[in-house]
Amino acid sequence: MDPYVTEWLNLIVRWIHLIVGIAWIGASFYFNWLEGHLEKKAGLSEGVAGELWAVHGGGFYHVQKYAVAPAQLPETLHWFKWEAYWTWISGITLLCIVYYLSPGVYLIDKSVADIPGWAGILIGLGFIAGGWFAYDRLAKSPLVDKPGLFLLVMLLGMTIVALILTQIFNPRAAYIHVGAMLGTMMAGNVFFGIMPSQRYLVGALSRGEAPDPEVGKRGFQRSLHNNYFTLPVLFIMISNHYPATFGHAANWLILAALAAISIGVRHYFNLRNRGRDMRWILPLAALAMFSLAWVSAPAKVELDSSAEPVSTAQAHGIIVQRCTTCHSASPTDAAFKTAPNGVMFDTEDQIISNAPGIYARAVATESMPLGNLTGMTTEERSLLGQWYQTLGQH
Ligand code: HEC
Repeated sequence: MDPYVTEWLNLIVRWIHLIVGIAWIGASFYFNWLEGHLEKKAGLSEGVAGELWAVHGGGFYHVQKYAVAPAQLPETLHWFKWEAYWTWISGITLLCIVYYLSPGVYLIDKSVADIPGWAGILIGLGFIAGGWFAYDRLAKSPLVDKPGLFLLVMLLGMTIVALILTQIFNPRAAYIHVGAMLGTMMAGNVFFGIMPSQRYLVGALSRGEAPDPEVGKRGFQRSLHNNYFTLPVLFIMISNHYPATFGHAANWLILAALAAISIGVRHYFNLRNRGRDMRWILPLAALAMFSLAWVSAPAKVELDSSAEPVSTAQAHGIIVQRCTTCHSASPTDAAFKTAPNGVMFDTEDQIISNAPGIYARAVATESMPLGNLTGMTTEERSLLGQWYQTLGQH
């Protein structure tokens, strides 16, 4: 497809995805906060378990939560589901636009695994669907009543999937597929778990029957799982900006570590909403983040003192061959009509001013050339590393 058309499709769908995603997660954060701040005092009206007052946007709001349900259901009852459905629909559409329309660019990296594009697409979709079925089974097993163990099994499962996918896909695509799989579990929870349980509840009440508390409990568990998925998924959705993570040799482990840290942070807020303020979790999480950055820092390329310094002209020679098919005022790569991110390497001045980026992407993380489409060699990478060090010595 014409890259100009895909760029606009990408823009429109990504924008929608972001907006509906904010609406979904925003509402979910809000209800979490609400739950934690309800004042459960004496003298509330019949059946009311807690209430609170808030001021926002120049108006006063008075919210009440019922222990079970009001004696009579209101005529208009607001549900929150379309935010979730549209986030999933737009997300899968975006996945197709970016990764499946031209699998050779962002999905497949021949230096990782030389598989045909259609096979990559089938594997990707297989993991997204398979992830849901595995999770759904697990959430219906007795394990779900042991939250700590359940979390551990989920984290381990996610890590294994990340490990497998990083051996098959371009690492950025591997990351996004883990995110799409978790996001599918979240949307699936809304569609197959939470909504049916709410519909049952409302149905039972309107028939004047006492609802089975087990159904409500299952819905609540799904909702709690979504709560813990949120932060890891949000990181994965922005991970493509961070080659130091997906470009690392142990990228799957970094993903697992970031997920674990963010689940800890989520846990802190959940505990606080239940009145337990375990503040030490936050500095611990910050420490864990810095430690992760520290241990995963790329090794410095050692300048071989016996070797000739590498001149900018030499480096430019390599870059013209391997990079300017895309990074040029007039790219020749069929997938790009304009230089990616506006970064061009047509002149020596341009490569000097972009030297840190070139070093980071082509040497330290090897996340460029994209999917190594232009077949850059290890030797060329180390020459660029030497050039970067030579530059630094002037
Ligand atoms: C097949 C096309 C293609 C080739 C070849 C390619 N790149 Fe890229 N490059 C991209 C795309 C697309 C992006 C934006 C996405 C990203 O940041 O990963 C990008 C982003 C970058 C960035 C980050 C720019 C910024 O500031 O946001 C750098 C640096 C970079 N490339 C360097 C290189 C170097 C060095 C080479 C050659 C060794 C190279 N690229 C070869 C497609 C390519």
